Amino acid sequence: MGNRKAAEIMSEAQSGKRMLRALAGEVLDRPPFWFMRQAGRYLPEYRATRAHAGDFLSLCYNPELAVEVTLQPIRRYHMDAAILFSDILVIPDAMGQALAYKEGEGPQLEPVRSAKDLDRLETGRITEHLQPVFETLKGLRKALPADVTLIGFAGAPWTVATYMVEGQGSRDFANAKSWAFTDEAGFARLINMLVDATTEYLLAQIDAGAEVIQIFDTWAGALSETEFEKWCIAPVARIVSNLRAKHPDIPVIGFPRGAGAGYASFAAKTGVNAVSLDTSVPLEWARENVQSDNVQTSCAVQGNLDPLLVVAGGEGMLREARRILETLGKGPFVFNLGHGFVPQTPPEHVEELSELIRNWG
Ligand code: CP3
Repeated sequence: MGNRKAAEIMSEAQSGKRMLRALAGEVLDRPPFWFMRQAGRYLPEYRATRAHAGDFLSLCYNPELAVEVTLQPIRRYHMDAAILFSDILVIPDAMGQALAYKEGEGPQLEPVRSAKDLDRLETGRITEHLQPVFETLKGLRKALPADVTLIGFAGAPWTVATYMVEGQGSRDFANAKSWAFTDEAGFARLINMLVDATTEYLLAQIDAGAEVIQIFDTWAGALSETEFEKWCIAPVARIVSNLRAKHPDIPVIGFPRGAGAGYASFAAKTGVNAVSLDTSVPLEWARENVQSDNVQTSCAVQGNLDPLLVVAGGEGMLREARRILETLGKGPFVFNLGHGFVPQTPPEHVEELSELIRNWG
């Protein structure tokens, strides 16, 4: 794959930020770390701010409070990166699809299930509607400590489409798959709309100060090999190439969660700088098939501690964290979880884990 890219990022990385150095392919004694869902309900200060904001979407669209909750875990644990506080479903929201987060139930949307339903979606007001998100990023660039990297993000088209079509979380994605199998052209139109909207959104995030982009394909693991190529790899590759056309140096992390052996082709074909490994990916396999220390073709990996081990804490958590650090730390690596923290995570276990990593090497 295109490979002036690593060398270019290497020069960008002279800012010295650990996160940018790892994504540029550098192998560090002490790898950078951050955690998916590092801002969230496991922190009492998050619950307080969230109560003050009212509902979850109001929190996402309130720059002052969104900056505050993004900073909360950084103050406690000094991660090397902060991820913008927002959600992947602000894109359907910006397209005018009715969205609500019901307490304890997750997101609910008015489903789109056919090419005809797509006519209800608006694509002309993405940047305008998401202005508060860009204000949050600008506020964060001012507020963050100099060594902390700011990560912007979006959902990948397939994962966002599953929520848009199912109208809620799903186990089998029966409606989304049936649409893709019976009317491929119609479903492709939805995916293409999402590629364009996501490109526009991420370019504006970069303009507002995001230094790294992560693309979450949380439900990639539901796709067969053929469908994974069509609905995960191809759209993500188009977004990455659209971003690079304007920002050749922007580091991009892909998270095709549950992709199994598909991680290797995802890393090879999408043009991302790094992939985030879910908990099920074997470390030696990832080292051999995904991670590359060659600066010309560098692919960093991120992951992949089981978030439930952080609920358990103690020696079990620390033993597995050390195994990950020892194995994946041989190449370009960012320590993270295999998926996000759950609300019942004890904050003191996060402290114990953070301390292990900060003192590594
Ligand atoms: O700290 C961070 O990770 C940054 C913020 C962030 C959130 N969502 C906040 C959030 C990020 C990066 C996301 C991404 C996201 N959102 C994904 C992809 C990553 C993943 O977790 O797989 C997905 C699939 C969503 C959609 C979504 N948002 C669901 C299914 C839910 C309900 C489940 C839940 O945990 O409540 C949300 C809500 C949500 N997004 C919360 C947070 C902190 C909880 C809202 C609350 O009650 O305060």
